[in-house]
Amino acid sequence: MTQRILGIETSCDETAAAVVADGRVVLSNVVHSQIHLHERWRGVVPEVASRSHTMRILPILQQALDDAGVKPHELDAVAVTHRPGMIGCLLVGMAAAKALALRFSLPLLAVDHVQAHVHTALLAEPQLQFPALCLVASGGHTAMYLLRAPLDAVRLGTTRDDAAGEALDKGAALLGLPYPGGPAIERAALEGKADRFNLPRPMVRGNQGPDDEDWFDFSFSGLKTSLLYLLRGPGAVAPPRALDEPELRDLAASYQEAVVDALLQKLTRAADRHAPKSLCIGGGVARNQRLRERLQQEPRLRALQLVLPEMNLCSDNGAMIALMGHLQLQQGMLADMTLEPVATPQAGGKAKPR
Ligand code: KG4
Ligand code: ZN
Repeated sequence: MTQRILGIETSCDETAAAVVADGRVVLSNVVHSQIHLHERWRGVVPEVASRSHTMRILPILQQALDDAGVKPHELDAVAVTHRPGMIGCLLVGMAAAKALALRFSLPLLAVDHVQAHVHTALLAEPQLQFPALCLVASGGHTAMYLLRAPLDAVRLGTTRDDAAGEALDKGAALLGLPYPGGPAIERAALEGKADRFNLPRPMVRGNQGPDDEDWFDFSFSGLKTSLLYLLRGPGAVAPPRALDEPELRDLAASYQEAVVDALLQKLTRAADRHAPKSLCIGGGVARNQRLRERLQQEPRLRALQLVLPEMNLCSDNGAMIALMGHLQLQQGMLADMTLEPVATPQAGGKAKPR
């Protein structure tokens, strides 16, 4: 019998709901982005975000059910993001999920948002080969995981400072490009020369050489400072210099390339060390075409089963939450009405090298 799970996501600036059948078939996937509300602040304002979720959650839930052709009593469970995220935002989705669970006597499943990005590989490719190397790169997180089996992911490394998307958002601000910065830089970079400006590829290195686990961590704040100094001189004391069109295009391309290079170098190193059979990407930055192109070109990485999920499964969505709900329900990992929101992601242990 088909098992239908409703997934609800309100951890950041997307109000999203989806119905997924048997953890594989996306029956509906509705996302309302609040980007226009946060544009003028160049970042997500928590109070504005949670208010907007409150206004949107019921119509989005209704649409997800209507699009799927499913009535609430026909659902088998409700899954909701309860971490990590802004508490006021998480509470909106959780209140809706609890109300539905209570009213229709449905099991409630508590999902970690970052783990949902990691497991998106399974929605995009049901024949995913394990272990899978998964990169999650968004505005809030940048980390690599080794997914050894469903619900068995270990974190290989994470960012020491800015997330990759945050670096793109801040870089775009320095270049006078709009928010969100990732897509703006991608557009500006299309005709640009990526080798015109020499920007650093920040590599975190531990003291112990390549055997040091720290080698799998990322760092992006130095890259952002290099761009700042390039524009305003050392120490950023000079007024910002006016950029002509070709300069702007070339700077955007050089900056994007530095971010992509940093991600690729760490992925290649992790592939050498942990011998995954597949590689998957998730999070908003995974929408980037240059990143996708480079992954398909890099010999070490293209040799793996490469899973590049469609765009609307990369950015925040309810389908990935429903998928996690499916996996957790199979394992009997049920939550109850005492479920609380948590700001931080699940702690991830370090994987031992093969
Ligand atoms: O996963 P997401 O939608 O939200 C969270 O941060 O959780 O990711 C948003 C981030 C932003 O930093 C945005 O600039 C970046 O993803 N992004 C992109 C692209 N689209 C969104 N970065 C590079 N290229 C893109 N096409
Ligand atoms: Zn996300």
